[in-house]
Amino acid sequence: MTTMKQAWNERAEENAMKYILETTNQVAFWDSGKAAAKELAELFGNVTYCEIGCGIGRIVVPLADKATKVYGYDISSAMINQARMFGTPTGKLQWIEGYGDGEELAKLQDVDIFYERLCFQHIPTEYLIKLLKNIRLGMRTNSLLLFKLNIVSEDDGRYWKKLENTNTWTSRGYTEEDINNILLENGLKQLLKLSSPDLTEFGQHRMIIRYGE
Ligand SMILES: C[S@@+](CC[C@H](N)C(=O)[O-])C[C@H]1O[C@@H](n2cnc3c(N)ncnc32)[C@H](O)[C@@H]1O
Repeated sequence: MTTMKQAWNERAEENAMKYILETTNQVAFWDSGKAAAKELAELFGNVTYCEIGCGIGRIVVPLADKATKVYGYDISSAMINQARMFGTPTGKLQWIEGYGDGEELAKLQDVDIFYERLCFQHIPTEYLIKLLKNIRLGMRTNSLLLFKLNIVSEDDGRYWKKLENTNTWTSRGYTEEDINNILLENGLKQLLKLSSPDLTEFGQHRMIIRYGE
């Protein structure tokens, strides 16, 4: 089976923008990243961010101008290599290539906001659980994790997204209960559910803070 890493390397080599945003329009691509970075900075301010699945840096690169520090983590070396052309690593911006289970993220202890865009929905559930465990370890008190997953229920037409849960591309679906169980298992709890237009780009996002401390 093609691994997650191989699959995303192949997509990046074929045409990264197409697989990230289903566009080949460079202006629209980078403008959307600037808008998302502005939105994050307006919500959370000049703090330390880590994007999980940062692709070629659409959001992380403009965000670095507005942040104390930004980490861009991705499973694909081909994505990260292209990202380096748009954002040279500095004290403020760091690229991290990993295996998609977030092991490197567990070591970070300076991140205020972990976030993802268009990444978690592609990850098979068993990997997503490992990733969340490591993010949780990398969180310090008051760190937040912002993410979006598709919520489905048995009686809507998108329930197949929950059942087809093995490849690294199809955007998968979870019931509210699934999500709550995954979070609980990882010591995370939902703090807020934000809806468009609070976070305009892709509809509903959830904001999570860890339990305790
Ligand atoms: C659709 S793209 C979105 C890129 C970026 N978030 C954006 O919005 O511009 C998904 C990205 O997630 C990365 N990815 C997929 N699975 C991953 C995993 N398990 N861990 C880290 N990155 C992953 C892919 O390599 C790809 O760069």
